[in-house]
Amino acid sequence: MSIYLDNAATTPLDKESQDCIFEIYNEKYGNPSSLHKMGLDAEKIYKKNITEVGNLINAKISNIIITSGGTEGNNTGVWQVKRFKNKKKKILTSNLEHSSILKYCDFLKSKENIDIEYYDINIDGSINLEDLLNKIDKNTGLVTIPFVNSEIGVVQDVQNISKEIKEIDENILIHVDGVQGFGKLDIDVNRLNIDTMSFSSHKIHGPKGLGGLYIREPHNFFPLIYGGGQQNNLRSGTEDVPSIAAFGKTCGIAQRDLNKNYEKIKKINKRYRKLLSQNIDEIIFNGKEMNTSPYIISLSIKDIKSEVLIHFLEMDQIYISSGSACSSKKKSISTTYDAIKIPHDYVEGTIRISFGRYSKEEDAEFVVEKISKYVKEIRKMVRS
Ligand SMILES: Cc1ncc(COP(=O)(O)O)c(C=O)c1O
Repeated sequence: MSIYLDNAATTPLDKESQDCIFEIYNEKYGNPSSLHKMGLDAEKIYKKNITEVGNLINAKISNIIITSGGTEGNNTGVWQVKRFKNKKKKILTSNLEHSSILKYCDFLKSKENIDIEYYDINIDGSINLEDLLNKIDKNTGLVTIPFVNSEIGVVQDVQNISKEIKEIDENILIHVDGVQGFGKLDIDVNRLNIDTMSFSSHKIHGPKGLGGLYIREPHNFFPLIYGGGQQNNLRSGTEDVPSIAAFGKTCGIAQRDLNKNYEKIKKINKRYRKLLSQNIDEIIFNGKEMNTSPYIISLSIKDIKSEVLIHFLEMDQIYISSGSACSSKKKSISTTYDAIKIPHDYVEGTIRISFGRYSKEEDAEFVVEKISKYVKEIRKMVRS
């Protein structure tokens, strides 16, 4: 049996969601835009399930669009800076963000003449609020905040940060990358005072290639994708009703079990941290435990190479990651690791253990025993 501990990269599909996809593909495959009964049936399924998606973050169906995933949600959220028609053309962002924000900012800078400025990150991975607020000026149109960073799991106090920003200028748009918090932490978009928030389905046992964006003011929204006018003209393209139905089901399960899962994962996290500290010397946990999501442990191990450890572990069918899946194939040091200043003899040994609904506490002993064994072997090679 494999032990899958890379749930921040992606998760297995819920059994109930799988059944749901096949049923709809086979029997209720109409296009919600069609006027006949099959179209109307598909529309009903779509509406019911998008309501479930919204319920998870306390958003109304009219404030949600379904996208192709967190990447599109982030691109679309950041794109909202265009609402100001170049009157406010600065984005404030940070090195804690996922590449779907950072690369899109690079694009906006080179092709759309948008100014991009980076606010500072504290050594524990929290946002340096003073620096962020100091960098706001009359040109600032949009600020990005990562709810939970995908590599080290740090959770930001989004409510307070957005309150402080809006106190300076209530017109500044706030986009939140909610991908690693959605369905795992208790998120109520109405409490947060934000303008857009992205989320993704495959991080919470839903289908891949699907996600969404919360939009506070749909009437002021600037679509990124144009076409047949689906989703109230906010995001065109025929809706993938079978996958959306599965996503709705997954969101319903996530909402029902949110607190129960959170407490379970917290316990598992504690067990892993304890065993890792007891069994491996010269390690650093990135981000303070109290500031990080229990679903992610980021650990830097002195004098090892994380890629080698990952391949050793896969021989025992243990799957972890060396940072976020999207950046782990790159050779350069992640911007997040750079921002929190992981020492140079530790940074290449940074691993991420990430949990999901199906993770088990009883696996911890076996996993840590294997990590500890391979760390010793790798160190012997590296240090000789
Ligand atoms: C924080 C964060 N944002 C955005 C994304 C992109 O989401 P998706 O894979 O749905 O495009 C990811 C995926 O790893 C992520 O971790």
